Amino acid sequence: MTIDLAALPDDFLWGTATSAYQIEGAVAEDGRSPSIWDTFAHTPGTIDGDDHGDIACDHYHRWREDIALMRRLGTNAYRLSVAWPRVLPGGDGPVNAKGLAFYDELVDALLEAGITPSVTLYHWDLPQVLQDRGGWPERATAEHYAAYASVVAERLGDRVTHWATLNEPLCSAWIGHLEGKMAPGWTDLTAAVRASYHLLLAHGLGMQAVKAASPGARVGITNNLSTIHPASDREEDLAAARRMDGHTNRWWLDPVHGRGFPADMRELYGVDLPERAGDLEVIGAELDWLGLNYYFPQTVAADPAAPAPYVRTVRRDGVPRTGMDWEIDASGIEDLLLRLTRDYGARRLYVTENGSAFPDTVRPDGTVEDPERTDYLVSHLAACAAAARKGAPLAGYFAWSLLDNFEWAYGYDKRFGLVHVDYETQVRTIKGSGRRYADIIAEHGRGRGRKAA
Ligand code: IFM
Repeated sequence: MTIDLAALPDDFLWGTATSAYQIEGAVAEDGRSPSIWDTFAHTPGTIDGDDHGDIACDHYHRWREDIALMRRLGTNAYRLSVAWPRVLPGGDGPVNAKGLAFYDELVDALLEAGITPSVTLYHWDLPQVLQDRGGWPERATAEHYAAYASVVAERLGDRVTHWATLNEPLCSAWIGHLEGKMAPGWTDLTAAVRASYHLLLAHGLGMQAVKAASPGARVGITNNLSTIHPASDREEDLAAARRMDGHTNRWWLDPVHGRGFPADMRELYGVDLPERAGDLEVIGAELDWLGLNYYFPQTVAADPAAPAPYVRTVRRDGVPRTGMDWEIDASGIEDLLLRLTRDYGARRLYVTENGSAFPDTVRPDGTVEDPERTDYLVSHLAACAAAARKGAPLAGYFAWSLLDNFEWAYGYDKRFGLVHVDYETQVRTIKGSGRRYADIIAEHGRGRGRKAA
């Protein structure tokens, strides 16, 4: 399969992505306080294999080695998240100098290596102290988030220009508060809807805070979106697909584009939003960029017995799947990039995550070959380039993930890395997919050279 690299701009960001709790470890070091994920992961029965992030990839101590890996891949960007409980262990203050210093040094080293840092301020690790005061269903959490965003932007904003307020608020709200499969593990629709509202309010307040601290900052948000297909053309399944699209896509996209919360979904949830005058303007302030995390499409049928949005996912036979049991369909990423361009007028798009988990084995000679992950990478990059060719303003792609890491409720068994991690020894090995990514990046660079010559 060929990738139309000429469709991608010369200054394209070729990146990898990670998040703090999934790789850092060192959970009780240098003043970090527990997050809701420490609590959740240490609750028996929540995580496969009773895994947790206490050590993870030990990135907190091995980050220099990890930057060296990024250099070997030839990437020019890296998406990381800052752990709120490292920076403000009390949730709303005081600042923990050692926690901030970690990110400060990391950013300097990335820049020194020619790698643009893209900083996500929240990737699900709410300080437990704030959960104890009510968490995301409470408005105060959004206000504390804005204060935390100011602290980080004041410290890093002289060097970091690329910021994301939130990673996948859908997971925090729906999976964390409605499905109970992620921290804090609730199954309460009212709490979930209130959490979703306050997360998006936090996004708006955070965007203001970052821009006030760092006027050159380019701020966006990262959503995990899916293409949604009806299981049949019966009216009830068509309606189920519309509901699922509202729940998965429109609920997160419409408000941040100044359109408010979708009326059909408000009616469906039947929960009063904790709105105050002026909130929608804050939430809907113009984005500098929009991030798409894409993994798989979903096919749904109506199911009145299921929780909101009253659908069940239908398993299609004969469709290739990843080790997560997620369908593989690269056309979904192209469709979503074009939808964001057409329906939401996106002016700058990044694929902030895309990748696949498959079981890996280290061969006797120490290499790791992962043809299925490589095929996934190449086919999705080809689809991204096709979208760019058709007009999507795609400015970068961040592969999920740099390293194998703690895959939340699935623990360490699911490996998404372009780099294999041996969790016993912490030895890192670039996989075949990582080598292929490096070749693609180099080829794009050569094309750029040819244009310049
Ligand atoms: O590992 C996660 C990441 O934290 C958020 N997006 C999806 C990835 C794969 O499940």
